[in-house]
Amino acid sequence: MQRGKGMKFVGDSRIKAEGKMPNVPKDYSEYPGKTEAFWPNFLLKEWMIGAIFLIGYLIITVAHPSPLERQADPTDTMYIPVPDWYFLFMYQLLKYEFASGPYNVIGAIVIPGLAIGALMLVPFMDTSKERRPFKRPLPTAFMLLAFAAIFYLTYESVANHDWEKAKAQGAIVEEVQFDKESEAYQLYTGAPGASCIGCHGDAFQGGLGPSLVNTGLTSEEIIDIVHNGLNDMPGGQWKGTEEELQVLADFLENLK
Ligand code: HEC
Repeated sequence: MQRGKGMKFVGDSRIKAEGKMPNVPKDYSEYPGKTEAFWPNFLLKEWMIGAIFLIGYLIITVAHPSPLERQADPTDTMYIPVPDWYFLFMYQLLKYEFASGPYNVIGAIVIPGLAIGALMLVPFMDTSKERRPFKRPLPTAFMLLAFAAIFYLTYESVANHDWEKAKAQGAIVEEVQFDKESEAYQLYTGAPGASCIGCHGDAFQGGLGPSLVNTGLTSEEIIDIVHNGLNDMPGGQWKGTEEELQVLADFLENLK
């Protein structure tokens, strides 16, 4: 029996199936040396390469753990989520006025839809047999345009994102032990403090404002910040007496 007789040929678009029904594969034995059996030769090779990649990914994941942030908090509306790097260009697109707010549909559906729709139409519109990019100016131009747009948008989103702030908002803050019955905590959460908790959290863990644990500030500096504010923190929020503020400031100074 001839070698390979009866085995089925894996379709290769470069070999013409003359005279035959287009969808019926030719017998493997008619292409000695040009192709190989799907099972087991071809699959075995695929699996071996697949295994190498799988092990590679495993090693990378173990050696480089995912950078985790603090536990997700559904009540925290100040948290600004950011997609992974490969979606940053779409994230950036949604920031432009023509593609956001009332025009969100344009940025979220119309533009990506047109791009993906065009990509699906390519095989029907670009039927040229030519392979050299320079001989196919239109498809090449569109591809370069797409590359340039994706590259530019990705770059813009990285350059415009406040990575420091993102790191702070996601930071895992060690929980501190403190006495919830203490006078200072009652002042902080009660009427005198009232507003503090909204920005600094019910356990001083931060939120809109930074964590109040381990600030390294003295009680005088803390009192000054509460009275006069600091950058984004408005002053004049304290509704209690000076003596009460002193109690809270002393407590915060020692909150480590
Ligand atoms: C509107 C939100 C908001 C409120 C309300 C608020 N803070 Fe702040 N707080 C901030 C922000 C934002 C900062 C960071 C300012 C900076 O460093 O730029 C801050 C900083 C601080 C700091 C300095 C922390 C550091 O490490 O530098 C202290 C102490 C502080 N706040 C205490 C309080 C207390 C006490 C109250 C309640 C009377 C309060 N804050 C109310 C937003 C707020």
